[in-house]
Amino acid sequence: MAIPEQMLSETRSPAAGKIPRHVAIIMDGNGRWAAARLLPRVEGHRRGVEAVRRTVRACRELGIGYLTLYSFSSENWSRPPDEVGDLMGLIRRFIRKDLADLHASNVRVRIIGMREGLDPDIGAMLQEAEALTALNTGLVLVFAFNYGARQEILAAVRQAASAIADGRLAPEALNPETFARYLDTAEIPDPDLIIRTSGEQRLSNFLLWQAAYAEFVFTPVLWPDFDRAALESAIAEFSGRDRRFGGRRAAGSP
Ligand code: IPE
Ligand code: IPE
Ligand code: MG
Repeated sequence: MAIPEQMLSETRSPAAGKIPRHVAIIMDGNGRWAAARLLPRVEGHRRGVEAVRRTVRACRELGIGYLTLYSFSSENWSRPPDEVGDLMGLIRRFIRKDLADLHASNVRVRIIGMREGLDPDIGAMLQEAEALTALNTGLVLVFAFNYGARQEILAAVRQAASAIADGRLAPEALNPETFARYLDTAEIPDPDLIIRTSGEQRLSNFLLWQAAYAEFVFTPVLWPDFDRAALESAIAEFSGRDRRFGGRRAAGSP
């Protein structure tokens, strides 16, 4: 039987050992970082944007193919309006300030999550970021923005159901590969490594379908303090893991 593509998704570089092809990060702990310094929460979010810049640079330097950043969840709307406003302001500023540099660095930007419910100017900026960088061939930088995995899966189910109802898809043709084409992450390989900062150990509605065989690394580092060393340490932990995908260890190993 052929080995599914996702199982061959790690690339090897002699210097760095096993490098994950796709790293996804739940960027958590901005509020606690600020509280520990008696600063307003927005300052934690601002410093979080600096950590995003550092992490994108480190991923480019390490030759990682895909970086997904959980930036705003479907459930984050339940925060107080001023904090939601601060977070929306930061994404606007980030795109305005950083898009040209990302493009010049050959980064391709993709956005997953719902566009409905966003301020129209933010929707337009996200669209512009994707369109401008669509032909770039370097790091694929995926922002999960207004994203919730259950919502994503339900939207995909709805599309698949209407394709079946219209006769465009035979029910027997629906399998994990064909279903995944209806997800926001179509054409993005599943994450190999999911990192969550701040010590929390949960997915919070992030990539529930795609995480089926991801390796998890939970670090106590708060997101605003995350840097290349923290990323390398998570990758080192990943490279020591034995990924079996339900099978057995390679012949010759114990
Ligand atoms: C992560 O930091 C940023 C977002 C969820 C947008 P938090 O704001 O969740 O920080 P904590 O968890 O309260 O410390
Ligand atoms: C998850 O963090 C969402 C993002 C990082 C964008 P939260 O801080 O919102 O998650 P919970 O509420 O602690 O699960
Ligand atoms: Mg949090």
